[in-house]
Amino acid sequence: MSIPEDKKAWQDGAVAKSIAKSPERKPEFRTSSNIEMERCFTPEFDYPGYDEQLGLPGQYPYTRGVQPTMYRGRFWTMRQYAGFGTAKESNERYKYLLQAGQTGLSVAFDLPTQMGYDSDAAMAAGEVGKVGVAIDSLADMETLFDGIPLDKVSTSMTINSTAAILLCMYIAVAEKQGVPANKISGTIQNDILKEYMARGTYIYPPKESMRIITDIFAYCKDYVPKWNTISISGYHIREAGSSAVQEVAFTLADGIAYVEAAIKAGLNVDEFAPRLAFFFNAHNNLLEEVAKFRAARRIWGRIMKERFGAKDPKSQMLRFHTQTAGCTLTAQQPDNNIMRVTIQALAAVLGGTQSLHTNSRDEALALPTEDSVRIALRTQQVIAYESGVADSIDPLAGSFLVESLTDQVEKAAMEYIEKIDKLGGAVEAISRGFQQKEIQDSAYAYQKAIESSDMVIVGVNKFTVQEPPPTGLLKVKEEVEISQKQSLGAVKAGRDAAAVQAALSALETAAKGDDNLMPHILKAVKSYATLGEIADVFREVFGKHHETVVL
Ligand code: 3HC
Repeated sequence: MSIPEDKKAWQDGAVAKSIAKSPERKPEFRTSSNIEMERCFTPEFDYPGYDEQLGLPGQYPYTRGVQPTMYRGRFWTMRQYAGFGTAKESNERYKYLLQAGQTGLSVAFDLPTQMGYDSDAAMAAGEVGKVGVAIDSLADMETLFDGIPLDKVSTSMTINSTAAILLCMYIAVAEKQGVPANKISGTIQNDILKEYMARGTYIYPPKESMRIITDIFAYCKDYVPKWNTISISGYHIREAGSSAVQEVAFTLADGIAYVEAAIKAGLNVDEFAPRLAFFFNAHNNLLEEVAKFRAARRIWGRIMKERFGAKDPKSQMLRFHTQTAGCTLTAQQPDNNIMRVTIQALAAVLGGTQSLHTNSRDEALALPTEDSVRIALRTQQVIAYESGVADSIDPLAGSFLVESLTDQVEKAAMEYIEKIDKLGGAVEAISRGFQQKEIQDSAYAYQKAIESSDMVIVGVNKFTVQEPPPTGLLKVKEEVEISQKQSLGAVKAGRDAAAVQAALSALETAAKGDDNLMPHILKAVKSYATLGEIADVFREVFGKHHETVVL
């Protein structure tokens, strides 16, 4: 058929079905000059390769977006990454953000929680509550979500090595609120491969880590069906200095490794793939970033359909969260970061993100104050409600530049994916330091360009000014560590020690066998076994990972 006929069939089919389920924001969308903003502009002539390369929104290969109505039906989720100090302080920040209009939660955990240490562990000293909230036991999670209805909000948790433990705590808190596990929605990052490659919060060796991850896939498909079981991340790969092409390639190569591991664990691809999610960076070059997101959707659609034989359209859709690039924030002239973040957020929206975090102007210096995080959220709201870019789907499609960059990013990323396949896949390539070396080379070139001023960073190597030291920064209270240790002590004193012991030894037995670990972890968290006690059981049975040093 030709594009006009295809488009009519799409309007009468997928679009009508979607609108019946969730109507668009307005009956019609018009500009200030009363010109109609069509749902999706397409060429009025036959455009060679349109169907193969683009398709219509919500149609394979999903280049133009995963939903038939995209932001006309529902804006992206405004989901600010937040968390610091105690669970009580973070709970207050979440309520502030929800009251300011954000539409999803995103939990930042402190490093001890991410690394499987309780706040009273020697390894936790100085880090408790610093880069995120300190969570030692179910008691802290109850405080963290106090007064927040978990059947009404979706929650992302940036947690990897201890993701299974935090997910079980979240399930337990929801149950205490009367919300069954099959009604909660959210995401755990749960992406250990990028931790080995670029971020560093790994604990266990790859094989054992992949077992925990596929146990989560298997458990959630039956008991937590609305939960996104992994957020395969390119954000941190880009933050480590990769190029846009490397970000896409290394992320999707990790995705391939997770799909292969799940299939090897006995799962059918359409049983778990619809709940795989992704997470990308939105960097400074707006047009390359839009092309990157469109290329990533098309590559993943083709990989899932052609390489893994996925039949369910939801298995082929790349749904992703975006965070604007933390590495581009400058300590100099911090207000300039508001403009950077606006451009980056615009790239994410023009690229079809499902969820978005906008960085705050002061985050190169400290955790964001309430004022700066409100400006960051308002940036999203101005783009959504005032700019008009959310009123028509994939508006840059058809641009000679954007379509060419989309094709070139796809081609270059596929070359990397083929290289990684030849090395034996992402896990093997990481163990050889392949991705790490490529990232280091890109990071070095980028930094040299800044230092030679070939690349201008406004306020840093051009248009500089003398500035007084910054004031009004948010400081995490020193006494967090003391108060956290006290509340941990109270939890331990008040729990049934025998029940905890029984749960931990059952967990050890399961870890030594091939039982799904999730039911045993759930039982342990409900007994108020601590995160550190549970993580230690796995340290004992699985051992600890040692990094491949790349020179
Ligand atoms: N019409 C009809 N329905 C629509 C629609 C439309 N136009 N748009 C969306 N919907 C539906 C969706 O289908 C979905 O319903 P379903 O679950 O029944 O399918 C519902 O509305 C919600 O939509 P999305 O799933 O698209 O949006 P979510 O926000 O719920 O999920 C996600 C987005 C990317 C899939 C999810 O994985 C997510 O929220 N990820 C967030 C990850 C995150 O925040 N990470 C932060 C990491 S911070 C970090 O690591 C950095 C640090 O280290 C510095």
